[in-house]
Amino acid sequence: MLIMEWNPALEVGIDEMDSDHRTLFELLVRVQDASDADDRAEAMAVLKELADYTQWHFAREEALMARHAYEFTAEHREEHQRLARQVGHMMTDLDRGHIAPHDVATFLQRWLMGHIAGADRHVGEAIARSRQKATAG
Ligand SMILES: [Fe+2]
Repeated sequence: MLIMEWNPALEVGIDEMDSDHRTLFELLVRVQDASDADDRAEAMAVLKELADYTQWHFAREEALMARHAYEFTAEHREEHQRLARQVGHMMTDLDRGHIAPHDVATFLQRWLMGHIAGADRHVGEAIARSRQKATAG
């Protein structure tokens, strides 16, 4: 079992992103609980919620990047789309019994934590600079 706590190091410094990420994190904790209980139905239910929520959150993040003319918006969007596809595949695989709730939890934790600490942090820094410029100018 993995003890998961929100880590302030995951904050990117942009309020709307950080609050969405906390919601994502809560979904991750629920996936972990489903994994601990080896509860396939619950893992599937949370995965579906996560798919819906990430669709909304990714669109919001992409709009924010576009608004600030973020240099790597296209690449970042591709990362989002890749996750969306992988979540779709996982739902099928979980349904067919090819993977276990544990595999879902491991994958999502790695992906989301890596994405937030990497790509999203980079966005946060770029937007902070863009906002500073706007205030200074
Ligand atoms: Fe992102």
